[in-house]
Amino acid sequence: MRAMTSHDWPAVAAVFAEGLEDRSATFETTVPTWETWDAGHSDEHRWVATVDGALLGWVACSPVSSRCVYAGVLEHSVYVARAARGRGVGSALLRHLITSTEDAGVWTLQAGVFPENVASLALHARHGFRVVGTRARVGRLDGVWRDVTLIERRSDSVGIT
Ligand SMILES: CC(C)(COP(=O)(O)OP(=O)(O)OC[C@H]1O[C@@H](n2cnc3c(N)ncnc32)[C@H](O)[C@@H]1OP(=O)(O)O)[C@@H](O)C(=O)NCCC(=O)NCCS
Repeated sequence: MRAMTSHDWPAVAAVFAEGLEDRSATFETTVPTWETWDAGHSDEHRWVATVDGALLGWVACSPVSSRCVYAGVLEHSVYVARAARGRGVGSALLRHLITSTEDAGVWTLQAGVFPENVASLALHARHGFRVVGTRARVGRLDGVWRDVTLIERRSDSVGIT
């Protein structure tokens, strides 16, 4: 596990593209440029999982709000290369993200997940995320209205007192 750099973008983008192809991860349908992606994500908490130099997956966050009351609430994305799924890479990335964000004082991680994305729901449940609720027909993907389940993990160690 190591921090993502701009040099990782071609491999990160390739893993992202596989997730987009599945139409089960996000409303996005095209991979952005590095500049657009970089501007939309926090500089911190960008991690890549590699084995023998090959990038197997990545995780990154965005702030949910510019209001200071929400400064410790981040929304994250996690993507694993199709060929590497089901082997614990997603778990390793999420575990690393939880540690790095808690160390930085982040108290809540959240994500929007299509209810059909059983792999993502299972991964997140495994790491202490709870389902807040499901928003009905909140956006269209390829012309089809899709529900989105909001999940969150409230830290037990940050912001307790
Ligand atoms: C969701 C995703 C990141 C999971 O990563 P992964 O490396 O395959 O997951 P892991 O191997 O670490 O598995 C983590 C847990 O989820 C479970 N899981 C993984 N895939 C599953 C599936 N298809 N069905 C049911 N459970 C599944 C595993 O059994 C494991 O649980 P356990 O520890 O209790 O055994 C991966 O499937 C992916 O990249 N999908 C496309 C992009 C995406 O949907 N991202 C999430 C957007 S919200």
